[in-house]
Amino acid sequence: MTRRFLFVLGSSRGDGNTELLARRAAEQLPAGVEQRWISLAEHPLPDFEDLRHDSDHVRPTEGPAALLLDATLAATDLVIASPLYWYSVSAHTKRYLDHWSGWLRTPGVDFKATMAGRTLWGVSALAHEETVVADPLAGTLRNSAAYLGMRFGGVLLGNGSKPGDVLHDTEALARAKTFFGQDAPPARFPYEEA
Ligand SMILES: Cc1cc2nc3c(=O)[nH]c(=O)nc-3n(C[C@H](O)[C@H](O)[C@H](O)COP(=O)(O)O)c2cc1C
Repeated sequence: MTRRFLFVLGSSRGDGNTELLARRAAEQLPAGVEQRWISLAEHPLPDFEDLRHDSDHVRPTEGPAALLLDATLAATDLVIASPLYWYSVSAHTKRYLDHWSGWLRTPGVDFKATMAGRTLWGVSALAHEETVVADPLAGTLRNSAAYLGMRFGGVLLGNGSKPGDVLHDTEALARAKTFFGQDAPPARFPYEEA
């Protein structure tokens, strides 16, 4: 089966460290693997409105929500490339994840069944030297993957503050070379670990 990678870019600036690191990792994908890149800043989603218990969500037919829903459903591999903002995902990224809650309740979409078995990957840049501070971001992605029955390939982290800094993080660039070649086991919540 042809793999189709969707890169969802969550930075609030273009050509930032997260995107640079994600592009380095993507360079290693075989030529036959499709790549699609969507910037959430360029395609801003509306604020999420929780209608789950009032009425049905309606499938979006136009605008960023339709673009992102269709692209997400089409991806075998979903890469969330979010900078570390306040130790977690950026607001753009969080809003995208919030929309998943609507898509889970949208008649005719079958979001959960479609996403099950597909693979979620994370890429993130952060200014802090100690990468342990990105655990909340990694936990958000991993638990979200577990909730949807997805596989989880982990989070590729790189260091940097101003755009381009991550290109000096030689360890991150080395990890980028093999990142998407790694095994991505089924995601598990921490309490499910043996
Ligand atoms: C709103 C905001 C919050 C941030 N919070 C953190 C943080 O919690 N920890 C950290 O190490 N760096 C933090 N940073 C620094 C960014 O993670 C860093 O500049 C990163 O390279 C930005 O990624 P980008 O270049 O892809 O946009 C923050 C930056 C911004 C703008």
